[in-house]
Amino acid sequence: MYDNVVLIGFMGSGKTTIGKSLARQLHKKFMDVDSVIEAEQNASITEIFANKGEEYFRDLEQKCINQLTQKTGQVIATGGGLPIYSAISKKSLIVYIDADFDVILDRLPRKERDKRPLLQDESRAKDLFEQRIGTYKELANFSVDANQKVSTFIHVIFDYILDQRVL
Ligand code: S3P
Repeated sequence: MYDNVVLIGFMGSGKTTIGKSLARQLHKKFMDVDSVIEAEQNASITEIFANKGEEYFRDLEQKCINQLTQKTGQVIATGGGLPIYSAISKKSLIVYIDADFDVILDRLPRKERDKRPLLQDESRAKDLFEQRIGTYKELANFSVDANQKVSTFIHVIFDYILDQRVL
């Protein structure tokens, strides 16, 4: 029995869009770690990185996911670096949104890229992607091929979650 569904994956893979839709269909609450942090800090992710640094942000992420996973019955979207730097409660059903780097870049409008400090330098972002995919795959209870339009694969995730026991 799992407490929550936690979506992981690289920046721009669609975790927030997918999470909102899944939560609606499953009648669960949707929570987005980045949005919770921005609201609590009253600052954007870009501002937090620029003014306080990445390490400070990683600390906020760990505290935020710890707090969120004390409750149950939620679909939680994480930032792309969260599972790399933070431990996620073992009682979470972890779903990896598995999209290729090129697909992610093609999909993200300029405005969305600008909101992500670690996506500004494309070749560094690609290195980060390569470094991280192994961890995403290892942590996931389930991985979904997310290289198509969200509407074409979201039912695969939905069906999988329905087969699991999530509070
Ligand atoms: C980050 C991903 C971002 C955000 C921050 C750092 C990362 O979230 O948490 O910019 O390290 O991959 P998204 O995955 O929602 O873009």
